[in-house]
Amino acid sequence: KSQESVKVKASPRMFKEYFQYKGISFPRLIYSEQGLREVENEFQVRDDDVFNVTYQKSGTVWMLEILSLIHSNGDPSWCRTVPNWDRGPWYETVVGLQKARSNQAPRLISSHLPVQLFAKSFFQSKAKVLYTLRNPKDVFVSLYHFAQIFRPYKEPGQLDQFLEQFLEGDVPFGSWFDHVKGWMGLRDHENFFWITYEELQQDLRGSVERICQFLGKPLEARALDGVVENASFQAMKQNKMCNFSLAPGFLLDQTQSSFLRKGIAGDWKNQLTKAQSENFDRIYQEQMQGLDLSFPWDEP
Ligand code: A3P
Repeated sequence: KSQESVKVKASPRMFKEYFQYKGISFPRLIYSEQGLREVENEFQVRDDDVFNVTYQKSGTVWMLEILSLIHSNGDPSWCRTVPNWDRGPWYETVVGLQKARSNQAPRLISSHLPVQLFAKSFFQSKAKVLYTLRNPKDVFVSLYHFAQIFRPYKEPGQLDQFLEQFLEGDVPFGSWFDHVKGWMGLRDHENFFWITYEELQQDLRGSVERICQFLGKPLEARALDGVVENASFQAMKQNKMCNFSLAPGFLLDQTQSSFLRKGIAGDWKNQLTKAQSENFDRIYQEQMQGLDLSFPWDEP
């Protein structure tokens, strides 16, 4: 189905309406129960599939650009001619599922699904998952802004109230904590790789080298340069195939803000009060205790 047919089918009532699938909220405008069932139970994962998995707002389109550029040996032509949502479709959306099915191997597929809703056939395959995480305070701030421009989402309202919903997991794709704990349960599997947004920020070149190693696709220095240059925030902001300027207005209202908003680590410090940040820390400690992992944002 094209985006055009989704547009025609969408009645005003569907805008901003959520449905629940196995306890997780999804916006009705671009997801369906049937589609999610198909992804979970019928989607045929191939051994050469590469999955770009994140909790939303953690660096999905950044990793998608990096993976696309690695795929094309640092040559930006593919990234400059094909929209990112076609290069690495979000396979849980109605439109993305069709695209993921019809794309040629080796496929690049993006997903925000929690692990328990992921394609079952993945777990019997040799397909690779790259999981990108980000400081959840920055995820929250990014989501707060995104929810104001992404039409399928409900208006987030006051920051304080939205923060409560986020910490309770009462947002699309559910709880950040559950998502991270669920996916990180795979961290000892050889076809699973994880990295943080903060590491990408700190050392993009070194991160790309690690990603290449995981993919079994070493790049020469010139190709590596091409990946690093074209995956920078500035380069991506200028590329209409990944800056979402081509996204239809019925999905994204770009009159106020843009998808590639600030692209920095630590913006939460400008947006959360001390009390909000402390409350966040308290819940973070509770939720993450016992998980033998440390992240860049855990350091004081
Ligand atoms: P901000 O809203 O904090 O700016 P996702 O792709 O998972 O939806 O995440 C979007 C976030 O990643 C946005 O964060 C966006 O600006 C940031 N981002 C995307 N590309 C980036 C890049 N090349 N460098 C840094 N941040 C990037």
